[in-house]
Amino acid sequence: MIDGKKVIFSGMQPSGDLTLGNYLGALKNWVQLSDEYMTFFCVVDEHAITVRQDPATLRKRVRELMALYIAAGLDPEKNCIYVQSHVSCHAELAWILNCFTYVGELQRMTQFKDKSAKHADNINAGLLTYPVLMAADILLYQTDVVPVGIDQKQHLEITRNIAERFNNIYGDVFTIPDIYLGKAGTRIMSLQDPLHKMSKSDENDNATIHLLDGRDAVIRKFKRAITDSEAQIRYREEQPGIRNLIDIYCACTGKTPQETEKEFDGKGYGEFKIAVGEAVADLLDPLQKRYKEILADKSYLEGIMKTNGERAEYYARKTLRKVQKKVGFVEKIR
Ligand code: TRP
Repeated sequence: MIDGKKVIFSGMQPSGDLTLGNYLGALKNWVQLSDEYMTFFCVVDEHAITVRQDPATLRKRVRELMALYIAAGLDPEKNCIYVQSHVSCHAELAWILNCFTYVGELQRMTQFKDKSAKHADNINAGLLTYPVLMAADILLYQTDVVPVGIDQKQHLEITRNIAERFNNIYGDVFTIPDIYLGKAGTRIMSLQDPLHKMSKSDENDNATIHLLDGRDAVIRKFKRAITDSEAQIRYREEQPGIRNLIDIYCACTGKTPQETEKEFDGKGYGEFKIAVGEAVADLLDPLQKRYKEILADKSYLEGIMKTNGERAEYYARKTLRKVQKKVGFVEKIR
């Protein structure tokens, strides 16, 4: 709790271009949460370097992601949006928590196994201890709730385990965070393979709507979306492609699947796909305009990074000091 409000923490990696899935599944939900909670939304550049990054590209992407958070509607006065590496407490707490985490439990993480397979030439220790840094992110702010996708559930569980283990030894130091998976239907699937999640690293460009795709590209990709030969627009499991399109349409327009079925009753897939494409483009249009404006104003963005980084540091430092004292570090004379 901070100032009588429950605390939310979440983060995204500045690696790869964000997709419509990131927006509808995560960012859009974050905006809705920001009235009720004290929120911290972090650009996790330290996590990003667990796989090789080109320095200039990483720098660019951090700024872009900051701009996108704001463009998506996160007011930087109300939400603490900042860059992970600007608050050194994250790395410091991660070190301490490393000493309360077992190698075996880290080796069991599915993301570690997947990424080790994918980057077999660079299985560095950071890849293994990735979840410990994530635990530090979350625990530094005495976080109550962490909105993330289902793929991060295991990391949330290990965070809770580490926190409980620490609290069992030293007393109530950390708040034990809960996961928040968001509403059903916000899991956006690939346009080319509706059984798999829309991914920013998909090799087939037609599978993914990038947040910065222009209207023509958006509509072209929807026209090519994989559907089926049922020739009816119905919201059901047997038609995963159409179902995904309905989910996207509903997320953009606020309509329900039932209303959408009715609206397109008897109409062809071609017409429906264009309608979904238009709805998505209408949603992305203003976001892209704001994004470009924010990114163009370098000093504005830098000001936000500075003030919000300092604000985050204030809260993080409090927890870190407490932890350092508990484990027996001699207090630094200031
Ligand atoms: N691991 C998360 C992801 O890849 C990003 C992340 C890092 C995060 N630290 C976090 C998410 C803390 C929530 C809370 O999506």
